[in-house]
Amino acid sequence: METSKPVKRDSFTTGIGVIAATLGSAVGLGNIWKFPALTGLNGGAAFITVYLLSTLMAGLPVMIAELMLGRRSKSDALTTFRVLHPKRESWALIGAAGVLSAFLILAFYTEVAGWVFAYVFKAASGSVLSSDPKVTSAAFASLISDPVQSIFWQCCVLLFVGGIIVLGVSKGIESTTKRLMPVLFLILLMIGVRSLMLPGAAAGLSFLFHPDFSKVTGAVVLTAMGLAFFKLSVGMGTMITYGSYFRDDQNIPMTALRVMLADLTVSLLAGIAIFPAVFTYGFKPEAGPSLLFITIPAVFSQMPFGNVFVVLFFVLGAIAATGAMLSIMEVPVAYLHQRFGFTRFRATALTVALLALIGSTAALSNSTLAGFKLFGMTMFDLYDFLTSNLLLPLGGFFICIFVGWVWGEQKVRAALSNDGALENRAMISTFFFIVRYVAPVTILVILLRGLKII
Ligand code: PHE
Repeated sequence: METSKPVKRDSFTTGIGVIAATLGSAVGLGNIWKFPALTGLNGGAAFITVYLLSTLMAGLPVMIAELMLGRRSKSDALTTFRVLHPKRESWALIGAAGVLSAFLILAFYTEVAGWVFAYVFKAASGSVLSSDPKVTSAAFASLISDPVQSIFWQCCVLLFVGGIIVLGVSKGIESTTKRLMPVLFLILLMIGVRSLMLPGAAAGLSFLFHPDFSKVTGAVVLTAMGLAFFKLSVGMGTMITYGSYFRDDQNIPMTALRVMLADLTVSLLAGIAIFPAVFTYGFKPEAGPSLLFITIPAVFSQMPFGNVFVVLFFVLGAIAATGAMLSIMEVPVAYLHQRFGFTRFRATALTVALLALIGSTAALSNSTLAGFKLFGMTMFDLYDFLTSNLLLPLGGFFICIFVGWVWGEQKVRAALSNDGALENRAMISTFFFIVRYVAPVTILVILLRGLKII
């Protein structure tokens, strides 16, 4: 077995910092771009119900499992499996798939984040605001179909995130997310309250909270489960990596539960901010991904002081995306740093350069490469589909198998009780039962049905 070079590890320093960074990872474009769009497309509350069940039966347990493994090994996503199970190299494939997923997710994520960053400026200058959706739609089309602008904004985002990553785990990730998270909640509350005062609030809320199960097919269930993984940043080693920066006295199950609840609150608040406005001005909720960039500017600019709210909305998006991107980029950076002894600067520079390359194929998906499709999807859609609907659930599945059947109950008990310091036997028993039986079966069945294999 190869041993990794001993490098002094940076880590999170305070309890608040741990929560801010972990929540910062979970909260992201998933809450304000994917969650409302997918809820709108797939029948509102029925989709949310399936999403919630997937979160409880698969997302949350995998999150606890990942944080636990990372803290035990104090290593990156790949090395963790080598350290915890040195006899079998093949488990490290989970970590390798995670590093791959990190690149694929960032490839499209930095592009959407690029649009969000661009919209902060464009909304502030008023150039994308109009109450006519035809105008906002043309403004969005002109941004995404312009190869130069697409690449430019993506590179800005990559350099920005890379710049914070270089500063390190405590001085970069922890201190940034600690500052940004409160701002995010404040903006979200402001927009949510404003939206609830609109005449269409009741229609918007009933769309969000009244289930219509007729739209829930196997593929929709897989999408909901994929979203549950994507939302909690699990199935690809992000939480293993962050877990390795946790302090030994951190209560992992409680931290995961709190982060899950706070993340859900953000998603629901984003829905509460968006749907009442959509119904008030007679738009369709099932606009999909364009909901954010076409409908929001059109809807919000009809409200009094709407322009201010549009700018605030995209600032919110930029903040959310930043915390999430930091955690994704940390996966390959931590690996390169620990495994090859690269300095953080070198590891980050290499990651950013590679991402600029892979990411450009996603960035150009609406322009130069629009005609280039694999399995009927543009590169942008393919990266999204491959990760959310395949790699993350598969990663989650194997992590459950590793924890539930290979690592075993004794080690889990020791790890989650902080070696006996915490009184949480019942919680651990429940967790272990879910991770050993419920989660793997649920994931597998949903995956196979969603892909129409059974
Ligand atoms: N959870 C993030 C979001 O919702 C995305 C993410 C996925 C982050 C996977 C890390 C790992 O936007």
